[in-house]
Amino acid sequence: MPARVIPLHDARPLRIAPLPTGLPGFPLADALGRPLRDLRISVTDRCNFRCGYCMPKQVFDKHHEFLPHADLLSFEEITRLASVFVGLGVEKLRITGGEPTLRRHLETLIEMLARLRTPDGRELDLTLTTNGSTLVKKAAALKAAGLNRLTVSLDGLDDAVFQRMNDVGFPVAEVLDGIRAAQAAGLGPIKVNMVVQRGVNDDQILAMARHFRHSGVVLRFIEYMDVGATNGWRMDQVLPSAEVQRRIAAEFPLTPLSHSAPGETAERWAYADGGGEVGFISSVTQAFCGDCNRARLSTEGRLYTCLFAHRGHDLRGLLRGTEPVSDAQLAGAVAGVWSGRDDRYSQLRGTAGAVTEARVEMHYIGG
Ligand code: GTP
Ligand code: 5AD
Ligand code: SF4
Ligand code: SF4
Repeated sequence: MPARVIPLHDARPLRIAPLPTGLPGFPLADALGRPLRDLRISVTDRCNFRCGYCMPKQVFDKHHEFLPHADLLSFEEITRLASVFVGLGVEKLRITGGEPTLRRHLETLIEMLARLRTPDGRELDLTLTTNGSTLVKKAAALKAAGLNRLTVSLDGLDDAVFQRMNDVGFPVAEVLDGIRAAQAAGLGPIKVNMVVQRGVNDDQILAMARHFRHSGVVLRFIEYMDVGATNGWRMDQVLPSAEVQRRIAAEFPLTPLSHSAPGETAERWAYADGGGEVGFISSVTQAFCGDCNRARLSTEGRLYTCLFAHRGHDLRGLLRGTEPVSDAQLAGAVAGVWSGRDDRYSQLRGTAGAVTEARVEMHYIGG
């Protein structure tokens, strides 16, 4: 039996500094000169799937204690923090989980977030990562609430492979119906993310490419990463993107596309015959920390400056402290954290400078 691993929820307390007289340099940059543009907000640590690389069943069984509801940030708290982040330069909000659509009344939060504007009056890019299991029911309501687009995680097309991967026997046909429902609701562009594990689902690569070509859906292949502490990651389970790309290009020639935004995770390619776009996310073989502009807010209100961080900064403690806190003070606290940020875990992986402490779990801060 594998050792029981308790996810580490160690938090750094944040103290309110004297009210900032001016924020540390605007636009805000971290210690490596990277701006803050993307905030990923986890709204639940629960999920109805048990993907082995994220929430393996042996660890996340009936004895696992999920966060009690009172510990979760409320929608008002999330929206207030999001607006502070937007004031500091964030232009994209991604709702994640666990499985975010399991959070009750998620549409209400989407409505609240959809009203936020950048300091110069622009709408935000508001998106969501989901396993697709609830989309048949929920896609139309999410769109009506103001969600712009979404990304579905899907690791195979063959029903047996997919059910083995989600480990709860969830049928692939229902996720595919969910993707169609999201398309019909006008949520676009829809992306599908496939985590590729050598020997587990790499036989699904071509079937996935064939299925999503000419569909308007952008399929992206993700290298299996060493996030968290429960999935028993090994380098030999990683299929490098270069190999995935070689297999696809052998059947469907590809031509490179330029980046659509600075700090983007994916290398974008087009099918030469006009079949649409395909992407490769290569955080293991080609780290993209150099212009990483992503911050993560956990379900219980901790700010993580890297997907591989081992500690978060306790923003909820400020929101719920005995002294009332102003938005300017919250902005000062976030700016202080961001300006000290020097994370670049993927770049340092395996080197002497690499972090070796236990890392936060992905279902707790989202992808
Ligand atoms: P788009 O705006 O739609 O392009 O989304 P995105 O690629 O920025 O975000 P998404 O959540 O779709 O990311 C896809 C996958 O890339 C995640 O599931 C992770 O596996 C990986 N990923 C995303 N952000 C990071 C990151 O900051 N560091 C690393 N190492 N991997 C990341
Ligand atoms: N490696 C790469 N991507 C992962 N995800 C979760 N765990 C991993 C991992 N170990 C991605 C998947 C998932 C999303 C929330 O994060 O795409 O669906
Ligand atoms: Fe759930 Fe996504 Fe994690 Fe799978 S990868 S267990 S669907 S949060
Ligand atoms: Fe950003 Fe950390 Fe991912 Fe590097 S490893 S891209 S710094 S989140």
